[in-house]
Amino acid sequence: MSVWKVSGGKKLYGDLRIQGSKNAVLPIMAAAIVTGCETELINCPRLSDVEAAMSILRHLGCKAEREGDTVNIDSRGMNRTDIPHDLMREMRSSVIFLGAILARAHEAKLSYPGGCELGPRPIDLHLEALRSLGAEISEQGGSLYCRDNGLKGSRINLSFPSVGATENAMLAACGAKGETVITNAAKEPEIVDLQEFLRKLGVSVSGAGTSTITICGFVPQKRVGHRIMTDRIASATALCCAASAGGSITLKSVAPSDFETVTSALESMGCEVERKASSVKISVSRPLRAPRPIVTRPYPGFPTDAQPLLMAACLRAEGTTVFTENIFENRYRHAVELCRLGADISVVGRVAVVTGVNELIGAPVSATDLRGGAALVAAALGANGDTTIYDAGHIARGYEEFDKMLMSLGADVSYESEQHLATVV
Ligand code: UD1
Repeated sequence: MSVWKVSGGKKLYGDLRIQGSKNAVLPIMAAAIVTGCETELINCPRLSDVEAAMSILRHLGCKAEREGDTVNIDSRGMNRTDIPHDLMREMRSSVIFLGAILARAHEAKLSYPGGCELGPRPIDLHLEALRSLGAEISEQGGSLYCRDNGLKGSRINLSFPSVGATENAMLAACGAKGETVITNAAKEPEIVDLQEFLRKLGVSVSGAGTSTITICGFVPQKRVGHRIMTDRIASATALCCAASAGGSITLKSVAPSDFETVTSALESMGCEVERKASSVKISVSRPLRAPRPIVTRPYPGFPTDAQPLLMAACLRAEGTTVFTENIFENRYRHAVELCRLGADISVVGRVAVVTGVNELIGAPVSATDLRGGAALVAAALGANGDTTIYDAGHIARGYEEFDKMLMSLGADVSYESEQHLATVV
């Protein structure tokens, strides 16, 4: 089992360069097969999900190689249209390849992605969108069989602005004849990054970042290059770690507007924030006060992914913070673990109420999921004494060298991955 150890009580100081975005790179890697071409993706984080996406690309017959933070993909030789169960299972969001494979090859076979630690993860909106474009989809023995006799542009109205369904619809629409208009589309910055990449691929696409996206065919390109946007949730994580531990850190080369809801919540708690065009400095002298109620919503609302992290920053804030989680139904599992450190949190359905305590005390805890695990790290940085976080492999799915990043700021942390522990034992 992978384990994090945190000796709390050290303030964080220094500058940080934030990794490329996990949630932007994955759909962009899928998009690289929509047309057969060579793609150079710069600023790709070293994460297991990115490695899993590379394995899927190789299985499909593409070349996918990493050189430093660059991933080179050559999709001209793609010769398969299926993704086997073991590859689907490795990465929950592999369903994003469905639209891309259909756009390119007009048939696809994928195993059904299951639920996850955040609760059920349905894909009905993805399938509905692809059916609107003319895909025939059937489900047999846990596999999805999809084919089309030529996708046709159409109007897709999403009943909820799902990020994944918007991305899948955009990718499939690239291979459709005529114009596709997606309404009630997700407006997340990662969708805008996907549009930027698709434009470089030669796709005629506009509207990303608003609720209406229009796509109308492509002119194939031989070679494209793209720099993946900075990870706004990793940025929010660093800010919340500083808010919990105290100190002063500066995030460099970030897009402050992408995570403004998190920054302004921290500001309302009494953190001092200095925003520049591409950097954010946070200075924290505790005690902090509880922020106004936090309600997670689709972008530009407060991101569900940052909810556990801000919760960690609120545990010792004076007063009561009320969280309402509107996106995922099972996203408070970290609350039980945070209580082991002495936090006072009560959860009823979608609402969690945090009452500030004077002190957190290090304890053994378990990471429940990626962001919940990072929240435990953030809370442990502000706790007195030592915290051991078990099941820490979840955290590595979303953060590149998180331990080294925190150490560079003066934190006393260590991380031993499962592989390393295995060799030690
Ligand atoms: C993406 C992000 C994830 C983030 C989430 C919400 C990636 C790889 N992951 O996930 O980190 O937490 O956006 O910002 O980018 N839903 C349905 N039917 C569907 C699709 C979704 O009911 O077909 C529901 C989900 O169960 C959930 C909500 O819609 O309750 C939001 O999901 P969605 O926006 O699709 O999130 P993901 O794309 O899975």
